[in-house]
Amino acid sequence: MENKYYLGVALPAYMFGRWETFGPVVTENFNSYTCENEMKPEAILVKPEAGGEPSMDFKRSMPAVQRAIEEGVKMRLHTLVWHSQTPRWFFTKDYSDEGELVDRETMLGRMEWYIKGVLGHFCGEYPGLFYAVDVVNEAFDVGDGDENGVRKKNSLWYETIGPDFIYMAFKYARMYAPEYLKLFYNDYSCMYKDDLILQHLSDAKRDGLIDGIGMQSHLSVGEDLDKFFSAARKFLDAGYELQMTELDVGIKEVNDETLAKQGEYYRRLREFADGLAENGENFTSLTVWGVNDATSWRRRESPLLFDAEMKEKPAYRGFMRK
Ligand code: XIL
Repeated sequence: MENKYYLGVALPAYMFGRWETFGPVVTENFNSYTCENEMKPEAILVKPEAGGEPSMDFKRSMPAVQRAIEEGVKMRLHTLVWHSQTPRWFFTKDYSDEGELVDRETMLGRMEWYIKGVLGHFCGEYPGLFYAVDVVNEAFDVGDGDENGVRKKNSLWYETIGPDFIYMAFKYARMYAPEYLKLFYNDYSCMYKDDLILQHLSDAKRDGLIDGIGMQSHLSVGEDLDKFFSAARKFLDAGYELQMTELDVGIKEVNDETLAKQGEYYRRLREFADGLAENGENFTSLTVWGVNDATSWRRRESPLLFDAEMKEKPAYRGFMRK
């Protein structure tokens, strides 16, 4: 089947310096790249000198952007507003690490400045390269959340602006994004909080500020895939474009049996995605979160398609439906 959706991979910057190792597999299998870390706020924001204003520096993302252009593939932009990997100094009055937090209006101003700057850079310099952006990442969590399930713990966006920082981020993103760039809400464990997500995004959806939901899809063998699939259908039925944005499937130990099971998980996920696309559903991208187990953020769970020697695992054959 000619693929009807992007097949993507997350790449950390150092892979572009070892392209002879990783390039062949990447170019053969994928037509969409996500920077694993290099487009996150901590990679872009530059702390000012005392008394100065912050700036942005995009050089850490350059290898990925250049490689994507060279290979003729598209990119996802990950991520604008997130409680994690965003420096505390960005939220303080004097831009110091320890300083007092700013008020809501000031932080809304900084949010607008940041979203405008990042979208302006990536879409202005490279028109058409990006097809989706994760505007807000991981904003809902019942355990770490307020009484409504909006993540509060460790979230300086929540602390400075309040729970409507999510709506405001989408508002600014819509103001500064070109029309072709799809605005996504991205989250983990979506199958356990699908109703919560839909409920909280409904204002932004009603006002035309959001296009899609990204299911990160950090899964483990043993989890209920039918539950995962029904959450996916729920998002589609609610009128959202759908993507799987960070797929990996962990196993507790590596042996023939667990590797085979992992392969089955990958096969079922890929079959599900293909089925959605064949049925004309608004499913547009499936990204795997890394290339091989040895370089995965979950390396202890061996969650990816290739092993340390870059050999195809049963997971690869399942994913490719071979
Ligand atoms: C992870 C990266 O893979 C790691 O290299 C980094 O140290 C931490 O972040 N959800 C997300 C991703 O949205 O950005 C995270 O990526 C994984 C969980």
